[in-house]
Amino acid sequence: MTLPYLEIDHNIIDESLVTNWWNDFARKYKHTGYNRTNGKDNLLVITELYGHENFIKDHPEVLEEKEKVNQYAQEILSKLNLQNIEFHVTFMVTRRGVLDWHIDEASSTRPGCSGAILFSLNEDKRAPTEWVYNDAYYSIDGYKMALINCSCMHRVDNRNHDTRKTFRIALYGTTFEEIKNKIAQTEYAL
Ligand SMILES: [Fe+2]
Repeated sequence: MTLPYLEIDHNIIDESLVTNWWNDFARKYKHTGYNRTNGKDNLLVITELYGHENFIKDHPEVLEEKEKVNQYAQEILSKLNLQNIEFHVTFMVTRRGVLDWHIDEASSTRPGCSGAILFSLNEDKRAPTEWVYNDAYYSIDGYKMALINCSCMHRVDNRNHDTRKTFRIALYGTTFEEIKNKIAQTEYAL
């Protein structure tokens, strides 16, 4: 069975460091996040992305710190056997509700996202995620850190959970399967 996700040992992330960046990029700029459209209005109200390239253009004062975030993401990717991959880091807010079925084509400033590594900054709040992958249905009842397939149809049911804050590294230029196989070879794959 080939799953559309792979859980990752979250100890790879320094949570206090990422939380500080969360405060700098998201909390401080609340309600100025980039909303995903995907042509569906209901995605707009559920998720917001912060710290993306367009945001940095409007807020040049955070450029230096965003460089640090990128460097840190690069370190994490190297540990996960993904040294040379194209990536894009953002902080994502998922509000209470259902992020309806979609493919992540328009979910970032670049199209064609193959997968995303997500690290939840919530202590115990879960956001159950579902996929239709290779004609089969899969689901996971939340995770602290995971690679998820966002190039196939998926949805997040966050109706019974509070706002979810996530450190998100979107990955490009390859396939989800290739990314998953590379991470699976490391000690951090669960
Ligand atoms: Fe998505």
